[in-house]
Amino acid sequence: MERTKIADLRQHIGEKVKVEGFLQTLRDQKKMQFLILRDLSGLVQVAFWKANDPALAEKISATATESVVSVTGTVIENPIVKLGGLEIQLETYEVIGPAESPIPLDPTAEALPSIDYRLDWRFLDMRRPPVTLLFKVQTTAEAAFREYWLKHDFIEIHSPKLMGSPSESGAELFEVQYFETKAYLAQSPQFYKQMAMAAGFERVFEIGPVFRADPSFTSRHMTEFTGIDMEISYIESHEDVMRFLENMLQYVYQRVKDAHDEEIKQQFGVDLRVPSVPFPRITMEKALEILKEVGYQLPPEKKGDIDPGGERALADYIKRTYDHDFFYLIDWPISVRPFYHMRHADQPHLTKSFDLIANGTEIVTGAQREHRYEILRQQAIEKGLSTQSIQFYLDFFRYGCPPHGGFGLGLSRLLMVMLNLPNIREAVFLFRGPNRLHP
Ligand code: 4AD
Ligand code: MG
Repeated sequence: MERTKIADLRQHIGEKVKVEGFLQTLRDQKKMQFLILRDLSGLVQVAFWKANDPALAEKISATATESVVSVTGTVIENPIVKLGGLEIQLETYEVIGPAESPIPLDPTAEALPSIDYRLDWRFLDMRRPPVTLLFKVQTTAEAAFREYWLKHDFIEIHSPKLMGSPSESGAELFEVQYFETKAYLAQSPQFYKQMAMAAGFERVFEIGPVFRADPSFTSRHMTEFTGIDMEISYIESHEDVMRFLENMLQYVYQRVKDAHDEEIKQQFGVDLRVPSVPFPRITMEKALEILKEVGYQLPPEKKGDIDPGGERALADYIKRTYDHDFFYLIDWPISVRPFYHMRHADQPHLTKSFDLIANGTEIVTGAQREHRYEILRQQAIEKGLSTQSIQFYLDFFRYGCPPHGGFGLGLSRLLMVMLNLPNIREAVFLFRGPNRLHP
């Protein structure tokens, strides 16, 4: 007999079905047993008259909750049943994946243990409906990104994660033993996206792992995360990249809203707002003025940069002034940007770059890249890089390369912002941080 999804039971009233899932609760009464079964699609009540088969009733009584069971029975309409007015009248019952008792983390408990404990037992934590929903939302969002790119003639690439030289800077770099030599884990697909531009691919994207040996313990940093990256050719400035990004994000939010609006309200208490475009743009210079105006004191060591508190203060200002949850911080000083960012011709201390701040958190960094070989080489030297180790990269720009730009977006940062989560550990399948390599 084929398995029926719980959500589809309404189409089978009066029929005999087989459902399989976790035994969420068991109410063992004098004459009757009521089981609540849970599969990915929902919950259903199953009822059994003990007198029908006392031996079977005992088997049911002995099953620990969260065991995986297989039930056959007839679907009946019963208006007094809370779960959709449906009930299955049990005929056969099999425990196909018994659970031990007690369970270290009860996914149906009201009180949640600490995030660290939940991560230890992540597979049980993920049985909770909000967590399952998060991964459905992630799937929809990623599919929407891809749809959007495919509509716009992009080519997908998969760049190597083992590299012979660092891709962003010497900091935050994981070194690995590589036979007789050493390799580095890719800190971003940056170099290879640009290689694709030199190859004439014009528009590329990659969704893949990114590694950062960042020892910090914040609510938004991981040592491994999924990067959503793209790069486009024949642009005039970073403005072209920002315009593409805001339209794409609007599309992604709309697709997520269409698919999960009600559930997101129920599980996260979030009324998803599809952002209007264009997003406000604020230059770094103006941002510093605003921060002064609202009385936010930047930490002195953050010269030319804006710290997370500053990002939140700016986000509050933007919200008050433009009623917008997103804004671009543009034209960053060269001191806080990598060597490959292009600089403004008339303001050579400023880069043609941007960060996208969403609900007060940086979710994207992007820029127009310097594609002129001599200038790029000079900028690398200025930043103290050894041109020898990146000569393979510099070569991309020696034999004809179109002007181009792109960005990197952190997938978990986006989900965290979209679903209003307090911590990135909640927004990733398995968190990796300085103190966590398991499970
Ligand atoms: O800002 P980042 O470091 O920029 C780059 O990697 C550039 N190559 C992008 C470009 O095309 N110019 O990283 C991009 C995004 C960040 O905005 C953030 O969303 C996410 O990646 N990110 C992290 N997410 C989780 N944990 C970390 N440690 C992250 N570091 C960056
Ligand atoms: Mg950044």
